[in-house]
Amino acid sequence: MKRLFLWLCLCLVGLVAWAGEPPRVILIGPPGAGKGTQARYLSEKYHLSHISTGDILRENRKQGTELGQKAAAYMDSGKLVPDDLIVSMVAEKLEGDGGFVLDGFPRSEAQAVLLDTMLAKAGHPINSVILLEVKDNDLVERLSLRRSCPTCQRTYHLKSNPPKKEGLCDVDGTALIQRPDDKEDVIRNRLRVYHEQTEPVLRHYATAPGVVKIDGQLGIEEVQRRVDEALGAPVAP
Ligand code: AP5
Repeated sequence: MKRLFLWLCLCLVGLVAWAGEPPRVILIGPPGAGKGTQARYLSEKYHLSHISTGDILRENRKQGTELGQKAAAYMDSGKLVPDDLIVSMVAEKLEGDGGFVLDGFPRSEAQAVLLDTMLAKAGHPINSVILLEVKDNDLVERLSLRRSCPTCQRTYHLKSNPPKKEGLCDVDGTALIQRPDDKEDVIRNRLRVYHEQTEPVLRHYATAPGVVKIDGQLGIEEVQRRVDEALGAPVAP
C-alpha cells in the first residue's frame, strides 16, 4: 500500500515535470539495436513525432522520387547517404515545437553539428540521448531474421518477436518482406560504417544532459522500461 502511494506520488511529480518541456529524444545505436522498435513505442506512448531517416528514405524509394533514386545505391550497399540529402529532409520534419524521437539521425558528426544548430535556432534543444548497446555478432543474427512491413514499417523477428500470423503484419495484414540490406555481407558493411562514422556522434553527445546507455540485449519490454526511466517518466515498481 505504502509502495503504491509512493509510486502514485512519483507519477504526479513526473507528470508535473513532463508538463514543461516535451521529450526531444535521439535514439542512437548500431543497425538492428532496436531503435525503430523503441522509437515506435515512445511515439505511440507519449504522442511524439517519430522521425526515422531510414523509413523516410525507403518511402521515397517506394514512390520513385529523385531523393529515393539518389539514395538507393548507398542504402543497398550499407553506406551512408550524403549529409546534404539527409539534413534538408530532417529539417522539414523538425518544424514546430512538439516532442519528437529521432531514429537513425544524426549518424555522422557533421549531421550532429547541423542538428544542434537547427535546434538552437528554434530554441528547442535535445533533452534526451539514449544509446542502445548490442554486440556485433548478435546484430547479424537479429537482422538476418528480421522481417519488415513495407506499409507501416513495423519490424518483427522470426524468433524473438514473430507476427501473430506467419508472414503477415499484425497491424495491417501486409505480407512481410526481408529488407535488401539485411543480407549478411551488407549487414557487416553497415556495422563497419557505424563504427567508423557514427560512433564519433557518441563522443559529440558524451557530456550532453540526459545521456543514458541501455543494454539493448535485454528483452524488448525490459528495454522499454529502461527507456521510460531514461526519459524520467513514471515507471511502475
Ligand atoms: P535505417 O533504416 O536507419 O537502418 P539502421 O540504422 O541500420 O537500423 P535498422 O532499421 O536496421 O535497425 P533498428 O535499430 O531500427 O532495429 P529494429 O528495431 O528494426 O537506415 C537504413 C539505411 O538508410 C542506412 O544504411 C543508410 O544507407 C541510410 N540512412 C538512414 N539514415 C541515414 C542518415 N541519417 N544518414 C545517412 N544515411 C542514412 O530491430 C531489429 C530486429 O531486432 C527486429 O527484428 C526486432 O524485432 C528485433 N529486436 C528489437 N529489439 C530487440 C530486443 N531488445 N531483443 C531482441 N530482439 C529485438
